[in-house]
Amino acid sequence: MASASPNAAVASFFFLALLFRASFAQLSETYYDQTCPRLPNIVRASVKKAIQSDIRAGAKLIRLHFHDCFVNGCDGSVLLEDAPGIVSELNSPGNQGIQGLEIVDAIKADVEKECPGIVSCADILAQASKDSVDVQGGPSWRVLYGRRDSRIANKTGADSGLASPFETLDELKAKFAAVGLDTTDLVALSGAHTFGRSRCVFFSHRFANFNGTGSPDPSLDANYRRFLEGVCAAGANTRANFDPVTPDVFDKNYYTNLQVGKGLLQSDQELFSTPGADTIAIVNSFAAREGTFFKEFRKSMINMGNIKPLTGWRGEIRRNCRRVNSNSGLFGGEGEGEGEGHGVM
Ligand code: HEM
Ligand SMILES: *[C@@H]1O[C@H](CO)[C@@H](O)[C@H](O)[C@H]1NC(C)=O
Ligand SMILES: *[C@@H]1O[C@H](CO)[C@@H](O)[C@H](O)[C@H]1NC(C)=O
Repeated sequence: MASASPNAAVASFFFLALLFRASFAQLSETYYDQTCPRLPNIVRASVKKAIQSDIRAGAKLIRLHFHDCFVNGCDGSVLLEDAPGIVSELNSPGNQGIQGLEIVDAIKADVEKECPGIVSCADILAQASKDSVDVQGGPSWRVLYGRRDSRIANKTGADSGLASPFETLDELKAKFAAVGLDTTDLVALSGAHTFGRSRCVFFSHRFANFNGTGSPDPSLDANYRRFLEGVCAAGANTRANFDPVTPDVFDKNYYTNLQVGKGLLQSDQELFSTPGADTIAIVNSFAAREGTFFKEFRKSMINMGNIKPLTGWRGEIRRNCRRVNSNSGLFGGEGEGEGEGHGVM
């Protein structure tokens, strides 16, 4: 081994250089250019395949990304199931009924086939969200990569951090502000409710004695309300389209619906119907020009995707998105929660 020592010195130099670089890593468009250059094509093909067999696949994927990013940052934590030492975020009220883990598994399997052990589940959610939107008619953008997967879930963080459809506009703003997103982000990202479905349990309280008033929610169009009451007669777990006009297309109709009292959730309609709110003008501008909505949506998706990623050697690249790796390799044992700053210099 003595004769190998110059090589060992060289190796450890590169090793340290790698660590140094990693400890300052930012998300970047080119992160997988050398290690998985076809990643965007693989994920896109997989998302398209999923949408062909389930028209809601895209809606499920972007919702998972949203719920991932709002709890400890975009680190794949939402995907972890209950296991020894893991209390799943999926048990949190805000995640009840969330769907699409098997779609993530299928995308991950396609990615692993070509680039084993390279791409994080958190990055897959970010990429799949972009594809979901633009495959269904929405804007496209350059996805940033380099997130790593957490070795923990944060159920109490999910309990307190995820938005609820029963909250007021001020409460929603506060939850977005808590992760560094502003009012424009809130209005733009809520536009994802231009596709997908909601179960009646999340909006049927608007039909009668709303908020103790003895009357239906006055901001809900009466004809639309009667239509929804009909849909929901089948039971609280029945799903209604978020967008009654173009339910599966990613377009600006979410905002034109709000203008005529056809927001599905209380939290949707509040963006337009809260007296004096600064969100009204934003809704109107998105309703007027789809290009304005798309431009802001792109920006806000990048902003959301940048929430507190794990980079460098923090976290790991999960093999199975639903579980932390059992043998976590060289650095995985550090997990997260140690913050920045165990740099090598
Ligand atoms: C502003 C606060 C938000 C609240 C209160 C909220 C609430 C909800 C609720 C209650 C559902 C229905 C869940 C069910 O029936 O099981 C839902 C579905 C959905 N949410 Fe949100 N959401 C919010 C923001 C967002 C954001 C920012 C995105 C993405 C960028 C998003 C994407 C979706 C999608 C696509 C669906 C449909 C999923 C499906 O069809 O399975 N939501 N949301
Ligand atoms: C869980 O989330 C809460 C709320 O954001 C945060 O205060 C707490 O530090 C998180 N816990 C861990 C272990 O990351
Ligand atoms: C419901 O009532 C409470 C108390 O009167 C009020 O603070 C809140 O803003 C109301 N919410 C809505 C959505 O009207």
